[in-house]
Amino acid sequence: MRLLIAYGSTEGQTRKIARAAAEHLRKQHHEVQVVDCADLLTDFDIFPFDAAIIAASVHQWQHQTEMVEFVIKHKDWLADKLTAFISVSLSAAFEEDQAEAELYIDQFIDETGWRPQHTLSLAGALRYKKYDFMRRWVMRFMASAKGAPTDTSKDHEYTDWDQLYAFLDEFVADAKENPRKTA
Ligand SMILES: Cc1cc2nc3c(=O)[nH]c(=O)nc-3n(C[C@H](O)[C@H](O)[C@H](O)COP(=O)(O)O)c2cc1C
Repeated sequence: MRLLIAYGSTEGQTRKIARAAAEHLRKQHHEVQVVDCADLLTDFDIFPFDAAIIAASVHQWQHQTEMVEFVIKHKDWLADKLTAFISVSLSAAFEEDQAEAELYIDQFIDETGWRPQHTLSLAGALRYKKYDFMRRWVMRFMASAKGAPTDTSKDHEYTDWDQLYAFLDEFVADAKENPRKTA
């Protein structure tokens, strides 16, 4: 299968997730292209792909604008193919915030009008070392309210890699069981 993984990442965790997903799928002999939507050329050709995974992270309750724009631009193609959406957030890391994390996905679907067949709410990271002073202060405050680490001298990763790989395996199984979805 020829797969597109298009992502948006502000501090790098979703980029890491997109690359890990690609590596996992390549081990299963799929041809995978990973693209950062922030760098995408306007003449990007989506038509050669059989299926797509879109990954974006949440900042102030919103996914990246470039991801919303990318999906709206390619909505007709996405509607015809096997697709998945991975929403990366801090809320996904906490039991009590699962409903909020799911809401981000609903919001993205409402905003774009795209209905992916598979969705995953995946925990991201606290990347204190990447934040400027203001962001570090805000995120430390947010973390403290949740009982999350407040040591800003290092980054803290919450991503459950096994959850990601299990999700990808389900996605591939769906493609195998329903070959018409990727035709
Ligand atoms: C300024 C800022 C705002 C954020 N806002 C939210 C938010 O509203 N909800 C949430 O669940 N996570 C929020 N996060 C956490 C990010 O979703 C998380 O750090 C994620 O891993 C970022 O992915 P990225 O590195 O690919 O951009 C925020 C992070 C930052 C730095």
